[in-house]
Amino acid sequence: MSWQFDRAAYERRMDWYVRARFGLFLHWGLYAIPARGEWVRSVERIPKEDYDPLMAEFDPKACDIRQWMSAAKAAGMKYAVLTAKHHDGFCLFDSAYTDFKSTNSPAHRDFVREFLDAAREAGLRAGLYFSLIDWRHPDYPHYGDRHHPMRDDPAYSNEGRDFDRYLDYLHAQVRELCTNYGRLDLLWFDFSYDGLRGEAWRATELVEMVRSLQPDVIIDNRLEVSGEGFGSLAACRPTSFHGDFVSPEQIVPPYGLRDAEGRPLIWESCVTMNGHWGYCANDRYYKPASLLIRKLVECVSKGGNLLLNVGPDATGRFPEESLAILGEIGRWMEKNGESIYNCGPAGLDKPEYGRFTRNGDRLYVHIFENTIGPLPLSGVDRDRIRSVRRLADGSEVPLSTSWVHSDYPDLAFADLGPDPVLPDLVDTVLEVRLKAVSE
Ligand code: GLC
Repeated sequence: MSWQFDRAAYERRMDWYVRARFGLFLHWGLYAIPARGEWVRSVERIPKEDYDPLMAEFDPKACDIRQWMSAAKAAGMKYAVLTAKHHDGFCLFDSAYTDFKSTNSPAHRDFVREFLDAAREAGLRAGLYFSLIDWRHPDYPHYGDRHHPMRDDPAYSNEGRDFDRYLDYLHAQVRELCTNYGRLDLLWFDFSYDGLRGEAWRATELVEMVRSLQPDVIIDNRLEVSGEGFGSLAACRPTSFHGDFVSPEQIVPPYGLRDAEGRPLIWESCVTMNGHWGYCANDRYYKPASLLIRKLVECVSKGGNLLLNVGPDATGRFPEESLAILGEIGRWMEKNGESIYNCGPAGLDKPEYGRFTRNGDRLYVHIFENTIGPLPLSGVDRDRIRSVRRLADGSEVPLSTSWVHSDYPDLAFADLGPDPVLPDLVDTVLEVRLKAVSE
């Protein structure tokens, strides 16, 4: 029987994910030792024989993945995704198909298993990033490829390379991950480019195998595209290997995302804290927590998730800056998480002072900057307002009866009190409970 897209089954599968809204991306591997980002082999055109010896150094004694997970949980994150294998081909799991793996390093540890165990113990959903690209595998295109470290060197011609044999290897490792580690909530493939997309990866066969072993797993769209492009579900022509979500990278889509027939699409912005996914010692340009909190609100207000990245260093520690940012986000989430989880677009125009998110009859007013005088609840039907509370402390926020807005009788205004300085300068959240239309 030919494959048919089952929208109801799809929406059931996606339910936890769209409610979770906020996750942790973890990029970690040998590249943490050079500490110049996960593309260091490609950018610096490092030959295999110069990169392989890093495995003999890889012994992150300080790595305590339970600590990683407790930091993620305290930050209000509901799921986490770890790089099981990145483009360099180094496996953080005990693959039977290669010796280039963490269990062969001085660490002798299967970090994928430790990660999945720790995530589940912390009550987080857990997924694995798996690179479709493998610069170390002899059958992966070298010379003339767009990204391979040896792409400019004719000595690395592709004579004799058997891409199908590489795909057998890729599929076998995905099977290992889907078979040997219990339930996976997410598979984050990365990434398609040029002619290497869709069936070039034998994607139908791959996803059939994945879904036979992990029927409820959520799969990203990068068997079809990369951070550029949307995929077949967005085009309303879903393939059997369609991405379950669109994966915009280092951007929050300007207007949210809809498919070709106007249905809201499920999407997740993946964002680094500094400018690199993998640990980069010299990149101290970290985004302030205040910005990341507002970007999380923006994602949710547009119907998306935020997957925020940490690149642990070669000792297995989170960078101090990342821990500080996660801590600040957590303090805000602890008081305001209700305005993020289970929320989505409010169906109202964005207010000038911030954003709206919504969960059924609860409208959340995110105030990034104060107004002069009472705050207009733009677009909210004042007859449907049951109550207004400050989310962080539950305190009542009265509707204003001031003369200053008597020229706008149809608009409801919230009276935030005499203090012109907002209680939370990053985002003060009001919860507006709405009466049902029938009431
Ligand atoms: C891009 C980068 C890759 C990173 C991914 C995260 O594909 O090439 O290094 O893992 O984005 O989204």
